[in-house]
Amino acid sequence: MKLETPRPVHLKDYRPPAYLIDRVHLDVSLEPTRTRVHSKLSIKPNTKAAGRREPLRLDGEHLELAEIALDGKPLGKKDYKLTDTSLTLVKTPSAPFTLDITTFVNPEANKALQGIYRSNNVYCSQCEAQGFRRITYFLDRPDVLATYTVRIDADPHAAPILLSNGNLKERGTLDGGKRHYAVWHDPHPKPSYLFALVGGDLAPISSTFRTKSGRKVDLAIYVEHGKEARAAWAMDSLKRAMRWDEVRFGREYDLDVFNIVAVSDFNMGAMENKGLNIFNDRLILASPETATDTIFEAIESVVAHEYFHNWTGNRITCRDWFQLCLKEGLTVYRDQEFSADERSATVQRIIDVRQLKTHQFAEDAGPLAHPVRPESYIEINNFYTSTVYEKGAEVVRMIATILGRDGFRKGMDLYFERHDGEAATVDEFVSCFEDATGTDLSQFKLWYAQAGTPQIIANLRYDKDKKTADLELEQIVPPTPGQPSKKPMHLPIRLGLLGGNGHDLDLKLSNGEEIADGVVSLTRRRQSFRFVDIPSRPVPSLLRGFSAPVNLTLDLPDEDVELLMASDSDLFNRWQAANDYATRTLIEAVSGRGSNKRSSRALRYVRALGAAVSGDNLEPAYRAELLKLPTQADIARIIGKNVDPALVHRAHRQLAKLIGKTLGPQLEALYRAVDDKGPFSPDAASAGRRALRNAALTLLTARGTPADIGRLAKHYAKATNMTDRAHALFLLAARGGPEAKAALANFYEAWRKDHVVIDTWFAAQAQSPLASTLSRVKALTKHPLFALTAPNKVRALIGTFAASNPVQFNRPDGAGYAFLADQVLALDRLNPQIAARMLGTMRSWRSLESGRRAKAKKALQRIIRAKRLSPDVQEIASRILEA
Ligand code: BES
Ligand code: ZN
Repeated sequence: MKLETPRPVHLKDYRPPAYLIDRVHLDVSLEPTRTRVHSKLSIKPNTKAAGRREPLRLDGEHLELAEIALDGKPLGKKDYKLTDTSLTLVKTPSAPFTLDITTFVNPEANKALQGIYRSNNVYCSQCEAQGFRRITYFLDRPDVLATYTVRIDADPHAAPILLSNGNLKERGTLDGGKRHYAVWHDPHPKPSYLFALVGGDLAPISSTFRTKSGRKVDLAIYVEHGKEARAAWAMDSLKRAMRWDEVRFGREYDLDVFNIVAVSDFNMGAMENKGLNIFNDRLILASPETATDTIFEAIESVVAHEYFHNWTGNRITCRDWFQLCLKEGLTVYRDQEFSADERSATVQRIIDVRQLKTHQFAEDAGPLAHPVRPESYIEINNFYTSTVYEKGAEVVRMIATILGRDGFRKGMDLYFERHDGEAATVDEFVSCFEDATGTDLSQFKLWYAQAGTPQIIANLRYDKDKKTADLELEQIVPPTPGQPSKKPMHLPIRLGLLGGNGHDLDLKLSNGEEIADGVVSLTRRRQSFRFVDIPSRPVPSLLRGFSAPVNLTLDLPDEDVELLMASDSDLFNRWQAANDYATRTLIEAVSGRGSNKRSSRALRYVRALGAAVSGDNLEPAYRAELLKLPTQADIARIIGKNVDPALVHRAHRQLAKLIGKTLGPQLEALYRAVDDKGPFSPDAASAGRRALRNAALTLLTARGTPADIGRLAKHYAKATNMTDRAHALFLLAARGGPEAKAALANFYEAWRKDHVVIDTWFAAQAQSPLASTLSRVKALTKHPLFALTAPNKVRALIGTFAASNPVQFNRPDGAGYAFLADQVLALDRLNPQIAARMLGTMRSWRSLESGRRAKAKKALQRIIRAKRLSPDVQEIASRILEA
């Protein structure tokens, strides 16, 4: 065996595979520590690889090779070369041939959770991106499409349920009942990353769906015994998603069965394996008592997301992993649209933009910045990022904005027609929109290639004699690692001009050009637009609906922001104005300016907020969004350098307190008025009322009077659903004291036997800004319910501490960073993918003030100097330190 050091893979080096695999027969015999995998592969030279005669090299990792035969003849050790990561034939036939390969794997010992592993005694698999090579030797790349027939056998007591992709063909017992087996066949050619199998003792809930062409599909969701009722919402979401894809995109499901399996140990949220989605159980299981509205919402959108992949990802897959956004960005766009249609479109957009800014803008502004279509990687798992996902979705959304709803649909229809059954590229995707609508998107494609969040500097000049308004826009795309200078991009800017009364003015350009849909295109570095017949100085409302993922600099006077907040017809921008106003106020407080007149601006902001929230015609969910302050992380990102997280935290707390005090009676009235007495319903309107009530509670609690704490403790005690209970628990844990202690103890007693719900208890303690939190978190890593091998536990405790507790993670003594480094190093031995994700929380270290920066650097250096680092952690650590 030869050790190979990981080298980067480059997009420019892409070559079609020299061989193709048409058919795969897998025969898997499940055993806890020694599972046998026999695979029969039909292989042929790839005619499209233009006569490249090279030996067949199959990928394989962590495998024990038992036997290999070519066209039925056993091969000896001299006939192939084995390394840690590959098997290469010495002589490869030039005509089609079959390979029979038998390997053994150890599911029980597999803590990386890639390939076949066991979670709660259930056998399951995770192959994306490169896990299939941990099951058998294969051309483990997405442009090799094969049909799969899979036979699984197992102990019928340990694994009565046996599932794989496609349709069930046969099942039966063996050895007089000591074993049983099932045969599954998937008629749709697929890449290996979409393979899946499950074996275990699980309980299904079943339903059926009739497609628009009248075919019946059997649906099943498999969960732990006794948890069946908690899968009802996921089933309901699945059916709504299936219908929506038919109506909105004309896409019908294409197999007789659709199965979902929920498992407890899963590296990600969920996986779209063909006909057999596998989910992290926290994204399936929900009841009013156990799940918050946020979880109900997440279940709906993740179930939809994985289902939507059936067309955007599975029927049309990616040529190579550089094209990841082709399926992920597009599918996130589709799930966002689904949620917008099922719920409030404006509120959905606010949630999505908030998420984009907090995660993707931060990533794009730091050492891990990379294009939506990266050009190289060492470990592909490190590129399932918010840039590929969320910015990738924004890029699709901009295409829809530029082309309009009908043009976008035409392009999508052409994409499905042209590339069905293929492994496609981003270029091919964009060509479909160009060809379907006759639009030139060549400049637009820079969005896939250039990293960094563009900054748009806007100025509006009004000429009261000519009655014209000149909007001057300048775009600056900042340098990012490996990309020192950038070309100007094509940005769709949706806008309006408000007259003094807050109404939209008619938009007429001086050159007579029409403004379709209120959208102008910014394509040059500097560009101005002259609007005519403007009766008085207007207030610009730019980037309506967040029409492009940019940082907008527009220095409006506070009065103008107040006008937008009160009356912008675009409700997204109304919220944006409120958010900008709060941001201004907070940054002023952090920098110490305005602390004396503390502050006329802060008070004006709070009054404007009170007025905006009072609009009874606005939905509760929207009003709740207005009441949420920008996060401390958002403020830190906007400040950008020499950040002192303690100052940000203090400013944040003080503003919340000021709102609580100033708007007290109004918030108290809201808190009382929206108290739902009826039975719980997870629908958007009911969830919105709970959100509004809880947002009011947060601000009232910030005042911190005994009565406020009493109200909070009562909110916890009287809660009839997990939304209210968890909200109160987080607020209590953040304050500490006897009330927090009692609530945490109560919660623990109530939920310690529920491995999903108990994560809320870990997270509540990890997010507390109290000085004692780090030692509490350290102690909790030794708690019997905590396990470093369980990604959900790691995320709940360590992830929450590092990503959602800015003030204690960034302790001035550096102990937070040192703790994270210890955990990352320990995790790296077990699960490198999760270790690398946890390390990603350090990405903004350079923007800290110098004391913390030095401490963070020390922790990072300790990681990078450690021996036997995984490529995953090695890659993240070096990129974070280098840039
Ligand atoms: N294909 C991914 C799951 C995945 C990600 C597998 C990374 C292997 C490596 C799946 O479709 C996905 O995107 N899941 C998301 C949730 C989704 C709603 C954004 C996840 O797991 O976080
Ligand atoms: Zn996805």
